[in-house]
Amino acid sequence: MQISCSILSSDNREASVQKLNNTNVDYLHIDVMDGKFVKNTQFPISEIKKMLSLTTKKADIHLMVENPLAYIKELRDQNISYITIHRELDTDLYPIIDEIKKLNYQVGLSIKPDTSVASLIPYLKDIDLILVMSVEPGYGKQIFLPRTINKLNELNRLRTKYPHLIVEVDGGINDTNIKKLAKAKVDISVVGSYITNNDDYDLCINKLKGTK
Ligand code: DX5
Ligand code: ZN
Repeated sequence: MQISCSILSSDNREASVQKLNNTNVDYLHIDVMDGKFVKNTQFPISEIKKMLSLTTKKADIHLMVENPLAYIKELRDQNISYITIHRELDTDLYPIIDEIKKLNYQVGLSIKPDTSVASLIPYLKDIDLILVMSVEPGYGKQIFLPRTINKLNELNRLRTKYPHLIVEVDGGINDTNIKKLAKAKVDISVVGSYITNNDDYDLCINKLKGTK
């Protein structure tokens, strides 16, 4: 299991990024919110760039915004693995997908808890990663929604046809419920407050990564 750490709920994000540099964590997860797609507003472009300049980890950017292109265009030549946009956007997703590919990053598509797995089918051949939200996007420190597991099982059936797909889950994950995610063949878990609310990041991350 790979771990992508969200610093959304950290009291001191710069210190958290630096602390994560000395751990085994796989990615730095940056949650970008515009106050429109979700109510919260977080990580203006200047702060994203600051975090990217501090981290030695590969970045995993989660765009919860109505106009992803405005952000993506500012993110060229960075140590970014994935840029993920939302399936629920009321616009043609292909120009956005193409722009992410043009910058040589991998493309993620995310679904909120009430969005079906079936709605992803037309895009599966053109994307690299699926981000299944296990809480309503907008805030950290929420409770993991158990119905997420049914979606993962459904996705695994689809994955037999699209074996290249990476599956990531985001929201409310800790050292207990991650066991169910490992069983459901999740590749990357996004974990925020369980790590950043703890003094010993290493201990938390090693526990999470060791889950079978
Ligand atoms: C929610 C964000 C998540 C969240 C994860 O909108 O996308 O990445 O910050 O934090 P925890 O682990 O605290 O739920
Ligand atoms: Zn996120």
